[in-house]
Amino acid sequence: MKTSVDLMIENVERLFPGHKEVCKGASVAVDGGRIQAIGPAQKIAGLFDGTRTLDGRGKLLTAGFVDSHTHLVFGGERSGEFVLRCAGGDYEQIASEGGGIRASVRMTRAATLQQLVDSARPRLQRMMAAGSTTIEIKSGYGLDLESELKMLRAIRQLSEEFPIEIVSTFMGAHEIPDEWRHDRAEYVRIICEQMIPQVAREGLAEFCDVFCERGVFDSQESIQILQAGQEHGLKPKVHADELAASGGSQVAAQVGAVSADHLMEVTAEGIEALKGAGVVPTLLPGTTFYLRKSGYAPARSLIDAGLEIAIATDRNPGSCTIESMLFIAGLSVMHLGLTPSEAIVAATRGGARALGREAQCGTIEEGKRADLILWDVPDEDVLIHEFANQVPHVVCAAGRIVFDSHTAITDRSDLTSDQGV
Ligand code: NIG
Ligand code: FE
Repeated sequence: MKTSVDLMIENVERLFPGHKEVCKGASVAVDGGRIQAIGPAQKIAGLFDGTRTLDGRGKLLTAGFVDSHTHLVFGGERSGEFVLRCAGGDYEQIASEGGGIRASVRMTRAATLQQLVDSARPRLQRMMAAGSTTIEIKSGYGLDLESELKMLRAIRQLSEEFPIEIVSTFMGAHEIPDEWRHDRAEYVRIICEQMIPQVAREGLAEFCDVFCERGVFDSQESIQILQAGQEHGLKPKVHADELAASGGSQVAAQVGAVSADHLMEVTAEGIEALKGAGVVPTLLPGTTFYLRKSGYAPARSLIDAGLEIAIATDRNPGSCTIESMLFIAGLSVMHLGLTPSEAIVAATRGGARALGREAQCGTIEEGKRADLILWDVPDEDVLIHEFANQVPHVVCAAGRIVFDSHTAITDRSDLTSDQGV
């Protein structure tokens, strides 16, 4: 008697990353949203019968991408700044003149909650179709209580609408808003005493992030904000050492942050601090690329120090509009010196660790959520070589097919999931 399961992915060429080396010709049985069994195709076919079946011959099966760092909810757009930068303008200079994050704050404050949801939806659809099955989204373009809550409620609405996992981060400390630039201490107090308690009361975020950077929040302010978050159950994350060595890695270590992100300018002491505290270094090479900087984060030094890195898109309206984790993995091989296998691991298991979700997703293992991407290539070398071109053959989130390149259907929870494959 065979056990009937929701989905069988049969005879894949290669399966990666997983907990054991499964040779060519493996099959995966999926049921109830989870991976029930992985093994040689013949053995799995003898034990399970799939309601639906995908033919994996000649194909690579990877875990779904975990994009652990995005700012994909925002009002308006900033293409003008991009054009200025390409003509020689500088990101920090543009920001100091009221552009950058503060420009997005004005446009986000002017948008309704529904406008924020509607403009973010196509971004999320594209990201899901590109294989991201877990996506973190930060607030931080509101910078006053009501506007931050509006952003977080938009994130919550999107998470209810989409069949992938969406993780919410409060980032009231993304920038000092125009109205508090004369009294930054008061803005820090508002974050700690008004915003964080309210966000926690409404259960609107899991993490609290701070832009610890020259000209933005200094180390002391960052620690104050992250500790206030911790007192209300929000786990810390840090934008650290992005544009200058600003002590962000040490801040992340001191508060026991889950991740320290960017790290383009991290120092040897910063790397030691991250290692000692078990902070996940999260590299965002799309931002370095997009800002046309030459100093990519020192990925090899981090790896040589024994740290397991994550990579993520940083999708936002200014410093990086790249949405595809495969594209980011390609940049990581080209500019961070990762091998294709290391890049895929950083985009899957690395991202899961950066969100404290390594027990749920990030690898193809029995018992884990069935977040899977079937690629029409035989291995990760071919995949990365074609990073600007490849789209997934099929994307599966919690056992459900959410993208199928044959029908080009991107499945949301308001659609039925019984299209042919
Ligand atoms: O991660 N570094 C700070 N925040 C974003 C930039 C956001 C923006 O330019 O709007 C980042 O790169
Ligand atoms: Fe960011």
